[in-house]
Amino acid sequence: MSGFTAGEGVIWQQLVEAQRRLAPVHMRDQFSQDEKRFSRYSLQVDQLFLDYSRNRLDDTALALLIELASQAGIAERRDAMFAGDAINATEGRAVLHTALRATADQRIEVAGRNVVPDVYHELERMAAFVEAVRSGKHRGATGAAIKHVVNIGIGGSDLGPAMVADALKPYASDGPAVHFVSNVDPAQIHDTLAQLDPQATLIVVVSKTFTTQETMANAAVAQRWLEQSVGENIQSHLVAVTTKAEVAREHGFADESTFLFWDWVGGRYSLWSSVGVSIALAIGMPRFRELLAGAQAMDEHFRTAPLEQNMPVVLAMLGVWYRNFWGAATHAVLPYSQRLHRLPAYLQQLDMESNGKHVRLDGQPVACATGPVIWGEPGTNGQHAFYQLLHQGSDLVPCDILFARESDTGDAQGHRMLIANAIAQGEALMRGKESAQLRVELRDAGMTDAQVEQLFPHRSFPGNKPSNTLVFDSLSPRALGNIIALYEHKVFCQGVIWGINSFDQWGVELGKQLAKGVLASLTGSAQPPSQDSLLGWVLRD
Ligand code: F6P
Repeated sequence: MSGFTAGEGVIWQQLVEAQRRLAPVHMRDQFSQDEKRFSRYSLQVDQLFLDYSRNRLDDTALALLIELASQAGIAERRDAMFAGDAINATEGRAVLHTALRATADQRIEVAGRNVVPDVYHELERMAAFVEAVRSGKHRGATGAAIKHVVNIGIGGSDLGPAMVADALKPYASDGPAVHFVSNVDPAQIHDTLAQLDPQATLIVVVSKTFTTQETMANAAVAQRWLEQSVGENIQSHLVAVTTKAEVAREHGFADESTFLFWDWVGGRYSLWSSVGVSIALAIGMPRFRELLAGAQAMDEHFRTAPLEQNMPVVLAMLGVWYRNFWGAATHAVLPYSQRLHRLPAYLQQLDMESNGKHVRLDGQPVACATGPVIWGEPGTNGQHAFYQLLHQGSDLVPCDILFARESDTGDAQGHRMLIANAIAQGEALMRGKESAQLRVELRDAGMTDAQVEQLFPHRSFPGNKPSNTLVFDSLSPRALGNIIALYEHKVFCQGVIWGINSFDQWGVELGKQLAKGVLASLTGSAQPPSQDSLLGWVLRD
């Protein structure tokens, strides 16, 4: 890794200077001076088009960012990841979600074993099961066909499948309805099960560890619910997805309906494995394979394209640019797609659990900021809620805007309205409103000069707010595969720049441990705490 440290070095300093030089430059002037800015600052990969022209960027800054990527050793780290090296150093594990969408002829070794045949073996098992459920061959204990699937899992065992299942709803009309339960708040499982017929319901329990408190608690509720309706013989209603087959067996799951994945698949990178079984049940295996193929196409691009034309690298370096050189603490994800309404939540885990780290791989504190807060909502809802802050707030919030050129609804006019808003917002954020034009508009509205001057600061739009726009023809399984893999690799690249391990998540452990002790007090199996505490107050008589 050539001794590169984020926050230090000549290129870093040159980027600091590039930011100072660009701070007073307005993007609308850059557009008027360069007719080709849009086409020069855009990339197409498979079904995905990225317009990154609306960034506080020029060729010099971009070249420096790419040089930074090169010096940080992104290409070498990427190759190590694809090769199955144990780059998750704090857990001693390979990071091979890319192997889950590899082609069958690829050879990827973990500890001397080619894992691609294992991946395909599990995919084929899953395909046979999915086909049996969807065709009605696999039935519940009382002979009813499966009409509902309840996916019980949390974090990566929920967010990926839930996000994808919503996004691909138009492809799911011939499959069972899929529901997702993640929260340990009993309200969610109770409300979900209340609407379902147990005899026609499959419970899919997804947990890499099969020990996660929330998931195990919800699984137990679902198992009791099944037993009350169909009796003891509930195995045909149960599926487990885990790396721990033996633990699933102890919980009453049959081996033939337990689907496996491996410790070299991180939870938040796992939807491509049998963790995606609920997706496949909904949309069918051929479409699930299209999703994998979309991710695979992005993998190939990431692996082979030069850094300056590499979509994940460019997106990552733009994120680094704003985080480290412009002080942007947050990044908004704005899908102009109701079907992608869970994308911000999914990306929150992907990005924040991966890059929310304060020490480098060598254990030393990082010398610069790392992962930003990821947040967002579908446009146009966000426009009527928080876009005020994006346009006129005091913080710089870089945004990703996403939309499909075509709708699957057949409502072309409704979709045009949606796209019009997506395009207009990116333009408004970038261009703002020029002072002279605003003054004319206020005068034309009948205001006196004094009124104009009084209102002017409140009505002015400075613009110069950066956004990337991702466009795809339609929200197909393949395009969605492109999008998710793009973000996975973006997050990876940023982790390399910051020198952190993007693949562990020790930060979630402390709260889990403490909750166990608190629960013991709440249930009376441990000493209650002193009265002068929140727990003491909750437990008061
Ligand atoms: O607590 C965080 C976490 O470990 C995530 O990384 C993971 O996706 C989630 O919990 C669920 O874990 P499991 O799949 O083992 O139930």
